[in-house]
Amino acid sequence: MLTFTTIKLLREALSSERKQGHTISFVPTMGNLHEGHLALVRAAKLQADKVVVSIFVNPMQFGANEDLDAYPRTLDKDTQMIAEIGADFLFAPTAREMYPHGMSTQISIPVLSNILCGANRPGHFQGVTTICTKLFNIVQPDVAMFGEKDYQQLTIIRHMVEDLYVPTRIVGVQTGRAEDGLALSSRNMYLTAEERKIAPELYRNLVAAKNKILAGERNYFAVEEEALKNLYEAGFRPDYFHVSNRSTLEAPTPADDKLIILAAAQLGKARLIDNCKLDLPLP
Ligand code: PAF
Repeated sequence: MLTFTTIKLLREALSSERKQGHTISFVPTMGNLHEGHLALVRAAKLQADKVVVSIFVNPMQFGANEDLDAYPRTLDKDTQMIAEIGADFLFAPTAREMYPHGMSTQISIPVLSNILCGANRPGHFQGVTTICTKLFNIVQPDVAMFGEKDYQQLTIIRHMVEDLYVPTRIVGVQTGRAEDGLALSSRNMYLTAEERKIAPELYRNLVAAKNKILAGERNYFAVEEEALKNLYEAGFRPDYFHVSNRSTLEAPTPADDKLIILAAAQLGKARLIDNCKLDLPLP
């Protein structure tokens, strides 16, 4: 695996790959990699000839109350992990390389970015869409992989790519889970041993809500309220628990059959997010 820290040298290497007729898939990350990221790299390998992984802790997506400096930087370990499973290129730029003029240009998708997690993290998704636009322009991938755990992020990126005619296909990769159902996430490391036992309740409540709806319940508000109550009682501080239309993330109309239940909740120091898709039977 070749590692690059500058845009110029990465572009030269990728241009040579394209001249040889190779297609390129891309996995953007902020490092601190775990099995969930490796699943993205494995999926990327199936989609194109060469895989580029980026590791960049993006300052623009951290809020004023979020500690950018405390974000774990584990570049040596990450490099080894992705080299072992066969990534071809690592792009690990500095903040100066990615933001030579500061944060003067910003990409924003206001409506989708200000709901759900965006309501609690102002500016976060603007940081994500801005950095992804920069990375897409640098790598020019045929296909890019995003985890379904961050479903709002995936939806926003899909929307952006369509709106801006970015010639990259976006692939959502199924959430990796521990045996007890907890979604794999860098944030799980903030859980104490006691909280780790409670954490799977988030996914259990998502699945329970899905089953109620599949059994015929159509009062989504009641389903959401019950899950919020359960989560409070289990020791979480829930942020939201919403049944939504799977592509707009808005409240579903009676005609919508492709739904998703999205949840975010604080447990100790960790803000956990997860979701569960469901397809309603057609009448
Ligand atoms: O999901 C992440 O790790 C980040 O939001 C991303 C997509 C790498 C952008 O910094």
